Amino acid sequence: MKGLVLSGGKGTRLRPITHTAAKQLVPVANKPILFFVLENLAEAQVKDVGVIVSPETGPAIQEAVGDGSRFGISITWITQDRPGGLAHAVKVARPFLGDSPFVMYLGDNLIETRITAFVKEFKAGDAAAMILLKAVADPSASGVAVVDAHGHVVRLVEKPKVPPSNLALVGVYFFRNAIHAAIDAIKPSARGELEITDAIQRLLDTGARVDSRIITDWWLDTGKKDDLLAANTTVLTSWCRRKIEGDVDSASEVTGEVEIGPGTTVRNSKVKGPSVIGRDCRIVDSVIDPFTSIGDHSRILRSHVRHTVLLGHCHIEGVDAVENSLIGLNAQVRSSGKHRGPLHLSLGDDSTVDL
Ligand code: G1P
Repeated sequence: MKGLVLSGGKGTRLRPITHTAAKQLVPVANKPILFFVLENLAEAQVKDVGVIVSPETGPAIQEAVGDGSRFGISITWITQDRPGGLAHAVKVARPFLGDSPFVMYLGDNLIETRITAFVKEFKAGDAAAMILLKAVADPSASGVAVVDAHGHVVRLVEKPKVPPSNLALVGVYFFRNAIHAAIDAIKPSARGELEITDAIQRLLDTGARVDSRIITDWWLDTGKKDDLLAANTTVLTSWCRRKIEGDVDSASEVTGEVEIGPGTTVRNSKVKGPSVIGRDCRIVDSVIDPFTSIGDHSRILRSHVRHTVLLGHCHIEGVDAVENSLIGLNAQVRSSGKHRGPLHLSLGDDSTVDL
């Protein structure tokens, strides 16, 4: 079973952060979303993985991921020259996929569920495809499935105005090679893309069986700032474990599930979990409250930070409070002391705010 990870696209909804970074590299609990995806595949023993990238963000993604050995997988990089849709991506990947069954996983989807059992079930069965679904209040921004009492998919529709069920397609799909003929038979949708949803509907129309599994734990959207902060909170709550590798002085207090990376120094400060601080940071005379992720090489001096994601190389100094904020790489926020009250910021890379 091969893996196909879709990591193209531009992530316009996360601007200004993704003016400079790929949305799949935006960190949640200090780890790029794409890394959670690759770890889930590796854990399921899916080790031959094609990663689709766009010409714009491909180089940054390749640099961050490397050759896959850190995940124990082998990666084949595949460039999709235009955002032609998920089914178009499968077409582009055809030389890599051959006739092998494969699991397709959208590189910006963050799910709690481990896919190991699904990989085994799909391999052992003979369905043409299997999709993961989740019941949500409003699935109109997703693909939506109608399933029968056996979990067999009856009908699928992409982003319907009036959803025929509450079951959204989570971005994880299992396919046998019949999907390729189905993709060849479909036309671009109204948004001009070859939709994988339409290709799966085509499988159904030609009499093939499509199975489904409903996941009940979290599936997180990271498309916008508030979603990303909520995702950060959920992942920290679920997975953050106390691990102090940095140096904390006796005037400081670290409580709860807190990760502090190597080379980081904490002086005369309070850090409350769940929170994660990367490597080679300096936290001095500050308070870091729960649900905060601080990227590598950041400095927080005489400041209060809570419920915030800071990418690496940030410098926060003299700020009464930074909360509910998403702050890009190498950004600086400094206050001379006149400003009072919490700041809610959304800052792109290399920004400077002087108060
Ligand atoms: C894509 C799929 C959609 C699916 C969603 C999951 O939508 O087309 O069916 O529910 O991913 O994240 P997109 O995010 O590309 O609009």
